[in-house]
Amino acid sequence: MRTRRSGSHEHTTDITGLVSSAGGRLPGRISVPPAPAEALFPRTVPPRGHRRRGHGWAPTPCRVATYELTSDQAPVVWPLIPGDGLPPWGAELGYDALSGGTFYCDPMGWVADDDIPVTNPNIFIFGKPGRGKSALVKAFILRMVRFGYRGLVLGDVKDEYEGLSRALGVEPFRIGPGLTGRVNPLDVGPLGDGWSNLDAAEQRRRVTVITGRWLTLLRGLAGSQAVPFGPTEERVLTRVLRELVGWEQGATQLAPVTVPEVWAVLDGPTSSLVRDTRHADRQHFLDDTRLLRDALGALCDGSLRGMFDGPSTVHPDWRAPIQTLSLRALHDTGNQAAVGIALMCLNSWGQAMRELAGPGDHRIVLRDEAWLQTRLSLDAVMSLDANLRLSRRDGDVQVVTYHKPSDPLSAGDSGSQAAQIARDLLHLSDIRVLMGQDGEVASELGNLLGLTRMQQDVVTGWAMQEKGRALWLVGDRKFKVQTLLTPLEQRLTYTNDAVAG
Ligand SMILES: Nc1ncnc2c1ncn2[C@@H]1O[C@H](COP(=O)(O)OP(=O)(O)OP(=O)(O)O)[C@@H](O)[C@H]1O
Ligand SMILES: [Mg+2]
Repeated sequence: MRTRRSGSHEHTTDITGLVSSAGGRLPGRISVPPAPAEALFPRTVPPRGHRRRGHGWAPTPCRVATYELTSDQAPVVWPLIPGDGLPPWGAELGYDALSGGTFYCDPMGWVADDDIPVTNPNIFIFGKPGRGKSALVKAFILRMVRFGYRGLVLGDVKDEYEGLSRALGVEPFRIGPGLTGRVNPLDVGPLGDGWSNLDAAEQRRRVTVITGRWLTLLRGLAGSQAVPFGPTEERVLTRVLRELVGWEQGATQLAPVTVPEVWAVLDGPTSSLVRDTRHADRQHFLDDTRLLRDALGALCDGSLRGMFDGPSTVHPDWRAPIQTLSLRALHDTGNQAAVGIALMCLNSWGQAMRELAGPGDHRIVLRDEAWLQTRLSLDAVMSLDANLRLSRRDGDVQVVTYHKPSDPLSAGDSGSQAAQIARDLLHLSDIRVLMGQDGEVASELGNLLGLTRMQQDVVTGWAMQEKGRALWLVGDRKFKVQTLLTPLEQRLTYTNDAVAG
């Protein structure tokens, strides 16, 4: 308001006068009622504080540090709020707790998109028992089936994928003591199909792949029983496997090979085998391969008898939406080492079955409870490592579940070469899902996965408050995700029967 005094007259040229001279009327002053005494902030404080002793009055307003940064740089200050979200492709899993948006998972789509820092579609899931690892996998498989993916569960240790399999109309296979289900880990697989039509170079390539896979498995088998596997063992087995499969004799079809056959050849070596493997005589050969024969014997005798020592009786229909191989009966015997060896055999067999997948035949291959295998030995870790490395070639999404990030390291002393190899295994996957963990595991998360303190707190705090919560590491991006289950999925994923009972 502006007023001007002139003599005894007072001319008002304020806005109210102007408006009223034009016949208008401004609304009166709005009176603000005093804040009630119980309000959270009943009195406002002026910017410089109250001008009174002890009330923090400042002659100038205090300076606030100001930083300017782009949205690209913002994740450095707020590491859990990355710039862009992920595209709405693939399985709708739940919600992103930071943005409130829907969280989608599409590993193959992520690999194909150069803007997403993911170069392989493997997923490692870590979490304390009961946090929802298996439930997440089941929901993921179910939601990817509608995009044409199929599931393959290599070793369902607790029979918990059977419900899902039956819901999809597929009868699961069961492998265990006294059961008819048998898998030949030395199966030739689809690489042996149409053998006589292949040219010599392709035959040679395929035999190398097949025997390479078998050797990795047999090395893992020997290693898991503390039997040394050096160049001599490798040469002997390569020679035996090539002879049994019939390639060097120019067979028109690769012969199926079984572990007892390999054992029998080692136990009764021909003179040419003794000579070719540079042993002085038969006795020298037998002495040299005794431990190896004993290691192979573990698959033919004892707790694994009848499961991996003959031609496969399990013939999955690869067009069905899911195939599961249950190991519950074996698991119930309480022999964890046997379960670990069985998982190793199934993993190798599963790799064989996927060696010649047709274009567009995408599969989610699950290796649940992989810690049972990897803690057997370094060779067992290397066997899993080999199985996973080949996934990019055949277009499968390999899912591995562990309890703690250090699980694979239990194969060797910390700091040893074994631990280094196990650590490298963790880097075989660009997608890592960290479900709830106890506080003691926090430093592991920092050391092995490079999580900051704030990210560790998400895993040991926020993720422990609700099942299905996880910190997702997608390349170098992080997402706080809550998986949501539909009522049907809650029934199919329910694993607390024993506890509830
Ligand atoms: N997102 C979720 N919402 C509600 N319930 C869930 C969720 N995820 C898992 N559950 C429930 O929690 C229980 C344990 O889940 P699950 O068996 O998947 O755990 P796990 O981590 O695989 O445990 P383990 O290591 O023992 O195999 C199940 O009964 C399941 O239904
Ligand atoms: Mg589980």
